[in-house]
Amino acid sequence: MEISLSLLSADQGNLRGEVEKVKDVIDSLHFDIMDGHFVPEIGLGMGVVEALRSHFSFPFYVHLMVEEPEKYIDRFAEAGADVIYIHIESTPHISRVLERIKDKGLKGGVALNPATPIIFLEQIWELMDVLLLLTVNPGYGGQKLLPFTIGKIKKAKNTIMEKGLPIKIAVDGGINLATVKEVCEAGASIIVVGSYVFESENPLKAIKSLRGKMER
Ligand code: DX5
Ligand code: ZN
Repeated sequence: MEISLSLLSADQGNLRGEVEKVKDVIDSLHFDIMDGHFVPEIGLGMGVVEALRSHFSFPFYVHLMVEEPEKYIDRFAEAGADVIYIHIESTPHISRVLERIKDKGLKGGVALNPATPIIFLEQIWELMDVLLLLTVNPGYGGQKLLPFTIGKIKKAKNTIMEKGLPIKIAVDGGINLATVKEVCEAGASIIVVGSYVFESENPLKAIKSLRGKMER
């Protein structure tokens, strides 16, 4: 079980300081890259990934919420990403993009919006290392988890087990003390969390209580 910290709701003027506060209790960092087209907002870029890379050694997961993601794989790989998540809705060439990510020596992640069904993965299960299931519509931190996504997590977990593949399921959006148990029980093993941590008075304590609920 892994906690991946999303920087979307962190103090953007002090990202390094925000991560320093909790670095001993998280397992990885999650970068939400937004282009103003695939999602309405604009946020982060390869410069931030590169700037933080020299200060932290845990894995960097880059969540590309951009159109034409194929244009940016090499740049994020060079900036220090370990895993790149590509939205299946953002490119007609998902298998080619995943191949490119692997060629660069990184792990390939596929992201699905809440309303995109698991069946869309039918031909590409073997090509991915991590599946990122959005539990809110992407683009903003602090939204409520959409209850209909729980069944999708279960469905994905069952398929992965049936196929005997080593794919991890990550969940992203609306994770807090009230929702974390349910997503873990449904099959998630990477928990992306943002506003719950950054809006709490004591981020360290918040993460520890979250982890307490994650143990199965
Ligand atoms: C949603 C992003 C998430 C988000 C998580 O577009 O992909 O990573 O920031 O934030 P919370 O935990 O606030 O839902
Ligand atoms: Zn994200």
